[in-house]
Amino acid sequence: MAPTAEVGGAISIVSICAATAILYVVGTIVYRLYFHPLAKFPGPIHWRISNIPMVYHIFKGDIPFRVAKIHYKYGKSIRISPTEVLFSDPQAFKEIYGHRPPGTEELSKDKDLYNLLPDRPTTIIDAPRDEHGSLRRQLSHGFSDKTMREQEPIINEYIDLLIQRLHENCGRGPLDLREWFNWTTFDIIGDLGFGSSFGCLEGSSYHPWVALVIKSLKESAYFQALVRLGFRPLVNFLYRGGYMTKNSEYLELVSNKLQERIKLGVERPDLIEGLIKSREKLNLNLGQMVGNASLLIIAGSETTATLLSGAAFLLTTNRHCLEKLTEEVRSTFKSEDEITLTSVGNLHYMLACLNEAFRCYPPVPGDLTRTVPKGGTTICGEYVAEGTTVAVWQWAINHNPLYWTDPMVYAPERWMGDPKYEGDRLDAVQPFSVGPRNCLGRNLAYSEMRLILARVIYNFDMVLADDPVNQRWLEDQKVYVIWEKPPLKVHLAPVVKKSG
Ligand code: HEM
Repeated sequence: MAPTAEVGGAISIVSICAATAILYVVGTIVYRLYFHPLAKFPGPIHWRISNIPMVYHIFKGDIPFRVAKIHYKYGKSIRISPTEVLFSDPQAFKEIYGHRPPGTEELSKDKDLYNLLPDRPTTIIDAPRDEHGSLRRQLSHGFSDKTMREQEPIINEYIDLLIQRLHENCGRGPLDLREWFNWTTFDIIGDLGFGSSFGCLEGSSYHPWVALVIKSLKESAYFQALVRLGFRPLVNFLYRGGYMTKNSEYLELVSNKLQERIKLGVERPDLIEGLIKSREKLNLNLGQMVGNASLLIIAGSETTATLLSGAAFLLTTNRHCLEKLTEEVRSTFKSEDEITLTSVGNLHYMLACLNEAFRCYPPVPGDLTRTVPKGGTTICGEYVAEGTTVAVWQWAINHNPLYWTDPMVYAPERWMGDPKYEGDRLDAVQPFSVGPRNCLGRNLAYSEMRLILARVIYNFDMVLADDPVNQRWLEDQKVYVIWEKPPLKVHLAPVVKKSG
């Protein structure tokens, strides 16, 4: 064959390939926009046809705010990728996460996004329905009202140490409350989990484990993004090849602590007792025990510390709220030892302040994804096809002008029956989620937050450090599964006790 004929043949093969590729892309776009079972859901065109915009914003760390903007423009239900539909409606919480009517299948957790890492045993957070039920029953013992009353002295031991350390350090300039709250909640959960703390408050420093946990959560946001792009094999390769945070170190630490706890053998009012007792009945191996223990630590520390930091920032930047709360705390308690698990329950304004902090700064702002089961389902009156990923994003619903008067304003009064906020949908705030897989630690978290905040306010006057970065603490934050919190610098001045 003459060279020109060869070149001509090659060109026509290239042309055919290019035409096929263009046809495929155009066909996919047309299908996703007009013929796909989710075609009726609105959203920006580029988000509806591809995962790339979503993944871009996951990497950028601003995805919850993007999602909120899309909701406010396109409505309560939006399509934010070819296969993902989000709802911003209080009813959707019940229909996506809640108990389903008998005979209908629960919306399961999105397997790909929850169980990201290969070779990792399932834990309560990603276990399939049956396995989850028995794990949850055993763990619930550690979260009962009775157990929590028994845990109070353990919790108080660490809050005493926190207050002591704050007194020792407050004369040296502003303190980073983010650190102090993190150290306290990690120490408490370490003790409630295994009978020994991480020693953060004792040494006034992070245990290396804590930093690893926070880093690995950020990585999991990136891995979720890669999985959404279809790069699951790459995620497996990176994990198995050791190209991510060495979680083997902290799993080893949890494993050692757990084995010490098992050897102790004594009955202790802690969170792991239920699993230790029933590990044979549930057929749990050490890997699964370690996985669950490690999950308890992550779930039970970072979230509570985040809310406390958020509350401290919102109160110090809304002085009238802080003054009202200070008055409530200091007039309720004549001495510090009156501050107990039971008595903090009577601080109504404090509860309003915490709930409003949950609204403005939900510790889990983003996607708790669920998969629509076989046969599809109806959510907020709209049919959603099987296999669709659905969710309610907390930051978006918590600031949706449809449900809130002055959504961007921190106003605990909306939780106190103030007529100005009469139309607010308080049931749109669900920081602990709802239904059979909601947060097991809800009561523990409220107890810790109330006790810690009451004790700090009883002991100190708080003023946010006057530095521009600090003043924009909340506005500039990024989200990678959880908030990437910068230091929160606050001046603490010990309260001068009136004599007599
Ligand atoms: C402010 C504090 C907290 C917030 C906002 C929070 C939020 C949540 C949310 C939204 C879920 C559902 C996750 C999902 O659907 O995938 C959850 C689950 C869970 N949380 Fe919390 N949590 C907090 C504190 C705690 C504490 C103190 C513990 C105690 C260890 C804890 C233990 C758990 C457990 C074990 C689950 C899994 C429950 C299940 O799957 O049945 N959480 N949490």
